Amino acid sequence: MNQPRGDGHVHLADYIAPAWRIPQAELQFELDPAATIVLSRLCLSPDPARPGQPLELDGEGLELLDITLDGQPLAPDRYDYDGHRLVVAGLSGDCELATRVRIHPAGNTRLEGLYRSGDLLLTQCEAQGFRRITFMADRPDVMPRWRIVLRANRDAFPVLLANGNPLSSRDLGDGRHEASWENPHPTPAYLFAIAAGPLERVSQRLKTAEGRDVEINVWAEPGDVARCKYALGAVERALRWDEERFGRCYDLDVFNVVAAQDFTMGAMENKGLNIFNARYILADESTATDADFLAIESVVAHEYLHNWSGNRVTLRDWFQLSLKEGLTVFRDTEFSSDLHSRALKRIEVVRLLRGRQFAEDAGALAHPVRPARYKEISNFYTLTIYEKGAEIIRVLHTLVGEEAFRAGMDRYFADNDGRAATLEDFMSAHAAASGRDLSAFARWYAQAGTPEVAISADFNPATGDYTLTVDQHTPPTPGQPDKQPLVIPLRYVLFDADGAVVGQAPESDAVVRDGLVELTDARHVLRWRGLDGQPIPAFNQGFGAPVKLRFDQDVDDLARLARLERDPFNRWDLLQRLATEALLARPHAEAATGALSDALADLLSDPDADPAFVAECLVLPDFDTLAEQVDEVDVQALVARREELLDRLAEDQVERLQLRYEALATAARDGLSGKAMSARALRNACLAWLTRLDPEARLAQAQFDAGGSMTERIAALRCLLHFQAPGAEAALARFRDSHAGDPLVTDKWIGLVATRPHPDALDDVQALMASPWWKPANPNRVRALVGSFARLNPLAFHRRDGAGYRLLAAQVATLDGVNPQVAARLLGAFESWHRWAQPQRGQAKSALGSLQGQLASPDSRDFLERLLA
Ligand code: BES
Ligand code: ZN
Repeated sequence: MNQPRGDGHVHLADYIAPAWRIPQAELQFELDPAATIVLSRLCLSPDPARPGQPLELDGEGLELLDITLDGQPLAPDRYDYDGHRLVVAGLSGDCELATRVRIHPAGNTRLEGLYRSGDLLLTQCEAQGFRRITFMADRPDVMPRWRIVLRANRDAFPVLLANGNPLSSRDLGDGRHEASWENPHPTPAYLFAIAAGPLERVSQRLKTAEGRDVEINVWAEPGDVARCKYALGAVERALRWDEERFGRCYDLDVFNVVAAQDFTMGAMENKGLNIFNARYILADESTATDADFLAIESVVAHEYLHNWSGNRVTLRDWFQLSLKEGLTVFRDTEFSSDLHSRALKRIEVVRLLRGRQFAEDAGALAHPVRPARYKEISNFYTLTIYEKGAEIIRVLHTLVGEEAFRAGMDRYFADNDGRAATLEDFMSAHAAASGRDLSAFARWYAQAGTPEVAISADFNPATGDYTLTVDQHTPPTPGQPDKQPLVIPLRYVLFDADGAVVGQAPESDAVVRDGLVELTDARHVLRWRGLDGQPIPAFNQGFGAPVKLRFDQDVDDLARLARLERDPFNRWDLLQRLATEALLARPHAEAATGALSDALADLLSDPDADPAFVAECLVLPDFDTLAEQVDEVDVQALVARREELLDRLAEDQVERLQLRYEALATAARDGLSGKAMSARALRNACLAWLTRLDPEARLAQAQFDAGGSMTERIAALRCLLHFQAPGAEAALARFRDSHAGDPLVTDKWIGLVATRPHPDALDDVQALMASPWWKPANPNRVRALVGSFARLNPLAFHRRDGAGYRLLAAQVATLDGVNPQVAARLLGAFESWHRWAQPQRGQAKSALGSLQGQLASPDSRDFLERLLA
């Protein structure tokens, strides 16, 4: 059953369809945190094309109590269970296998399978957690219809939820009760879910466009339910949007969402019963920031949208992961763009791609969006699968246009409804709908690495001929030394000396249409004839292709373009270019700094510019984005240059910053309106710059003292802590004490402590680890302290003495025994270690080396092996 080869890897090429189908599954749970009994009845049906195969079911660490076949106890010599896999031989024809197993939720710190979080019992099954609950062909192409019966003590577990629609409930006497659920849609085991406990809800009824009455519930532990209203609204918005934009309706009578304080990932799209990390549900203005609200809306939408892209059409195998994740990120991004500012959303996504996905694609853990093999699938929930996967869909959208894209999606959903699909199924639906040959496009899925597009320009003043030579190249990545050219839709525009767009279409060996050239070969040439003067070109507007552009452009031209460009994303992008020139100490650094400062002055004085957009322009490329663009990373020098530039720019802009900060005060007080959020974004950006110039941090102190929303208080506290203001300690203590009972707000101040930009922050991190605040079994707390230290604090993590690396390695070794997925992900902070300058490279290597032989989980071992390969 798609087993690893001798090399320890599962290979895409080895896929074989299941020999046994499971059309129906019935589960009965006797829920108890200490020991839960699971009774399972599976209807089995052999693939008629391959009769006589043994039945093989997954089951990880289960205590098998009973096993019967068609109601008769199965003799011990008829089956074998080795703790991982149950094999039953000699079956023929349709039959029913029933098992009874015992599992132990309270001791489950991995948070996979059935586990306890606070007073709740919950499941997390993707990717391969179901096998920790009971025996099953735990693969996405086996899709039973399900009946689920839950029994538990009524006082401890008054609410009993499972996938699908509620069927019935009854009292069992003896203090226990029972609830039955039915999920009529064929659903793989990774989408199975139950949730039980003292849950309360906010609720809303609506009618779908198809006329179905649906009850939406968002559930949380009693003290938290008041903070679920925003998430409830987000579900409704997502549901309506999928109806409008993709013509997809909801398909059950209830949609339940549950918030859990202990959850490894962000959230999970279980059929009809999404389970969420509480941080992506709970929000009000005094505990959540504006960014939190937007993130909640987008994660709620993401999981809701999986109901079609993932659940109704699921995956044939885990190699197709991006078929649901990349597609659903594309969909949730469109949702957020349609509801809010498209430009701001694009900026957010492009920052993530350039800072993190590009680094992943260039580092030791690089892999194609559809890998050819894996050791541990949970290590493939990466920025490449998600974000690059979504960009590839955006490329397709650009190539075929919105109308053909929608037709292709309709066709994909119609042809594959109720099925387990592949990326080929996706592409063939789009090929049919658009009439395009997508065979070369498919290379995007197979090749790792970010393509580089290098452009050179030549102008002949005598003839007015202008030539652009466009070369593409994808660098080697682990296991892939040579790459083929990709299909890259590259936008371009030429401006003449008066700033008007050159309308003439170029001659080219490539397909060119309305400002877009489709690169398909390693080199293409674009030629314009008889231009009046040398034009100024600009490329890849809107970041239409996820590539690194190499074009040596004059700083004056960049500055000119920044003035000509009306599109906010492109304008932002040009300012980032100028900042990069300045920061990477390129030959024109001084000119770039001046041009950037002038452009920011214009923006800060522009009454028509959206304040949130201006705020984005004040955020310079981050450390990761810069580090990604140099051959060897000198961490301290890079951080220092960035700080210098920020100081210089802040000095240049001080009056304008003060003016905007003051002028936006009233607008910032208008609750959760878009205008108020936008005002707060710019005020907080101004505050951060102004605080650099004032060692007393008076403005930040005043903003903190004024109370206000979490958005305002946390931004002020960040300024106080990060600039080590005199009032920092007292403010931190006040903040900490006023939210001591709230784990999500506690994570916020812990994150601020862990990211203080100073090598000594490492001592604070260590002190917190020795304090009662340290909760190694809670993934949010681990990420807030260790994750943000390693990912967002270059000065402390990359300490020259190697102490940051040793701290991380020691934590990975310990946490690996608690929650392997959380531990393994922390190792990702080492993905670029080959490019770190000495002494860090050597320090990183020895920290990683020290982990060899120390890690028990396949997750961490797989990452460690790849990092050291
Ligand atoms: N299916 C995933 C959740 C998941 C991830 C399960 C990894 C098992 C392993 C879910 O749809 C998802 O993608 N969640 C993201 C958030 C999303 C908005 C990108 C997450 O959990 O980070
Ligand atoms: Zn997802």
